Amino acid sequence: MAILDIRKYPDTVLSKKAESVTDFNADLQQLIDDMTETLRATPTGIGLAAPQVGVSKRLAIIDLGRGTNEFSLYVIINPVLSEKEGCIETVEGCLSIPDMEARIQRYEKVRMRGLNREGRAVELDANGLLAIALQHEIDHLDGLLLINRLSPIKREFFKKRFKKTYK
Ligand code: NI
Repeated sequence: MAILDIRKYPDTVLSKKAESVTDFNADLQQLIDDMTETLRATPTGIGLAAPQVGVSKRLAIIDLGRGTNEFSLYVIINPVLSEKEGCIETVEGCLSIPDMEARIQRYEKVRMRGLNREGRAVELDANGLLAIALQHEIDHLDGLLLINRLSPIKREFFKKRFKKTYK
């Protein structure tokens, strides 16, 4: 396994719509294992999408237990939200925008259809933190970051602050 480099805003791979996974080969299994190790090596991350490690594929992992429980890892491939319900607002952060936290509205409950790492169809009913994490990771696969979820005024504020901090 290997710890991969996490791409940071404004890296262009983060704003591209990722392509469906079609090969469930050894390279994919290696990528999933490397992403898992990379996520668990971060101080606070609970989810990581393939574009965040420079691979524009519809693959993400979520680990709410952060490695404390072998069953806490979700591998999400070609996900589609088939049902969405309710509304919840929480503060989210993102490994690709290290200094930013933002209040974001999401669906409270979702049903996701997708594939597991062997390519078999899976369905997942999620609420609370898992539902939020799923929507956050699916946003990454669509090229959307937290800043794209902000109101236009807040987005401009973030961009100005970002330029000041990083110039
Ligand atoms: Ni993120």
